Amino acid sequence: MPTAPPDALVLAIETSCDETAVAVARADGEILASEISSQIALHQPYGGVVPELASRNHNLTLRPLIEHTVAAAGIAIDDLAAIAATSGPGLASSLLIGNTTAKALALALDKPFYAVNHLEGHLLSPFIGSGSGEVPSNLALVVSGGHTLVVHLRGAGDSTVLGSTRDDAAGEAFDKVGKMLGLPYPGGPEIDRRAREGNRRAFDFPRSMIDSGDFQFSFSGLKTAVFYQLKKLPEPLEESIIDDLCASFQEAVIEVLVAKTLAAARKTGERLVTVSGGVSCNRRLREAMTEACEESGLELRIAAPAYTTDNAAMIAWAAALKHARGAAPTPLDEDIDPNLKLA
Ligand code: KG4
Ligand code: ZN
Repeated sequence: MPTAPPDALVLAIETSCDETAVAVARADGEILASEISSQIALHQPYGGVVPELASRNHNLTLRPLIEHTVAAAGIAIDDLAAIAATSGPGLASSLLIGNTTAKALALALDKPFYAVNHLEGHLLSPFIGSGSGEVPSNLALVVSGGHTLVVHLRGAGDSTVLGSTRDDAAGEAFDKVGKMLGLPYPGGPEIDRRAREGNRRAFDFPRSMIDSGDFQFSFSGLKTAVFYQLKKLPEPLEESIIDDLCASFQEAVIEVLVAKTLAAARKTGERLVTVSGGVSCNRRLREAMTEACEESGLELRIAAPAYTTDNAAMIAWAAALKHARGAAPTPLDEDIDPNLKLA
């Protein structure tokens, strides 16, 4: 298969959920520009993402964001070698906007189009800025609003999923518990902030499936435990009790995430652990995972905060690697897939 030079420029669009993001990257891992237009304020009054509002806003935002990103990269649009977009998993109506826009751009510029799996992007994100453009074999934990996955990643595009969640994703549990506690959407960053003031041993919440001997997760029982604990507490909740609930809930999630990730590293024999996805922004998770990996003599790479939540840099780099290794472009009539799995 013919290969493309590693300095070929790839522009990617990411619209799998509520962030509109555009980036330009090269296969050697250089990110020339990465722009994100957040819709958090738009969805905040509803306490969650409203799909129709998300897709309409992607539609409004994309064209100026593409122009802005190309300018920020210091290139002309004709310098691009390929165009890419996230094709799943995610919200169908949101994915369609980014996908269709990217395909139209590819057609107009007469450049190849690459569909990218959003999860593949998260898996690569810990290596953005590592300098080499290489993706070494590792044991990966992907924790976001939509996913909790333990993955054996042997290299870019070569992975085996070892475990996932049976019900809520870790980020989803943070957001739902945040809502129960009356915190603003999204709950994850709020719980992270409030937990710093709280006592993580104040409430003894369940460490669901910690001894199941596999890499499966379940967070809905924990969510229910917080709900019943709340019923026992006098209303209105004291601020310090909210802090304690946040710290104790967060600790229950993190203990399970860390234990299963380390067990998977032991099972696969991988010496490098990576963590990515929105929840990997969490300060306590970063701290607990760092301590556990140090104790076990494992190397750890956590995505840089700018690349933990949804961004297009990780998608652009994944596409640039495909382009560089001569992968066939995606046909323009190929559909998006809201339930796309890792290959
Ligand atoms: O990766 P991401 O932007 O979107 C998905 O692909 O789902 O992740 C968003 C999720 C949300 O559930 C949000 O609450 C969570 O990541 N999150 C956090 C933190 N920052 C974002 N959860 C815990 N602590 C944080 N600091
Ligand atoms: Zn994501």
